[in-house]
Amino acid sequence: MNLETTNEVEIIKVATSKINQVDFENLTFGTIFTDHMLVCDYRNGAWERPTIKPYEPFTMDPSAKVFHYGQAIFEGMKAYKAEDNSVWLFRPEENHIRMNKSAVRMCMPEVPESVFIEGLKELLKIDQAWIPKGIGNTLYIRPFMIATGSGVIAQPSSEYRFCIILSPAKSYYSGDVKVLIADYFSRAANGGIGAAKAAGNYSGQFYPTQLAQEAGFQQIIWTDDATHTQLEECGTMNVFFRINDTLYTAPTSDRILDGITRKTLITLAQDKGIEVNVRPVLVEEIITAAENGSLKEIFGAGTAAVVSPICGFQYKDTYYEIVKPENSYAKLLKDALTQLQHKLTEDKFGWTIKI
Ligand code: COI
Repeated sequence: MNLETTNEVEIIKVATSKINQVDFENLTFGTIFTDHMLVCDYRNGAWERPTIKPYEPFTMDPSAKVFHYGQAIFEGMKAYKAEDNSVWLFRPEENHIRMNKSAVRMCMPEVPESVFIEGLKELLKIDQAWIPKGIGNTLYIRPFMIATGSGVIAQPSSEYRFCIILSPAKSYYSGDVKVLIADYFSRAANGGIGAAKAAGNYSGQFYPTQLAQEAGFQQIIWTDDATHTQLEECGTMNVFFRINDTLYTAPTSDRILDGITRKTLITLAQDKGIEVNVRPVLVEEIITAAENGSLKEIFGAGTAAVVSPICGFQYKDTYYEIVKPENSYAKLLKDALTQLQHKLTEDKFGWTIKI
């Protein structure tokens, strides 16, 4: 597989920016996109020259495999603006590695660093005015790849499109989140695609989540498909449980995404002297902890959501409320993470990359 492109990025800029039409104070997550996007096509066994061009619709054959077999993967990342107007990425190489793991699992070509990382940096330089300053303001980055080859035969495409679009964003969930623990539906199975950021992983959640929302919950905590006894992910996030002063989160597996926010929070928590136990977390032990008062917090962690506190959960017919503790770990870790991402504190881990 040829992982190198021979030429630099071609750049075609918009004649007039649409930035003045955007109300940056009232953004709905993922609905407004910047002036430009990066597009790179894969044909004849190689990646072509990437282009940065005005954001616009694609034209595609109706038989393209992405429409019929969902051969599609994506990543979620963010860019941050520091007080001095410099622009930063957070652990972008981790997204690149994960994108390519997803690509392998979905029988798609790996994306070279020159396209994913260097192309993204070029795109951000062009659209950096779209990143407002201040904690809570970010530019959400959505790299994705779709199978563009035509023909409804059910086999991998021979043509693909990699694209990066950018969307100014505040947080994904607002307020505290009430969740339902899954006891029938599943998000992923052993040997399946749960660890890949495959589009179908997310659309498969829509129906159970819609039912949960109709019942008054924002999200579902997914359990293992075989026994529904282990707590795995929460909606589109990894999930942490605090029992007394220890944090627990499930190990990554075929069923659980290797979340970059998840692994960052584990390191940040340990750095602050908080004990983190990475092991299967049982529904039963969380219920016992909720009943005896040792369950202090549950929070989701993801790029879009950052750290999202959960204020209560329902299991079968019983609802358990979680009273927010004064010394919330969710808040401590969220503050530590966002300050580091916005360059307000020292980055001793070397996670922030200047563009
Ligand atoms: C992210 O946190 O970036 C995700 O991938 C979740 C997405 C479905 C909004």
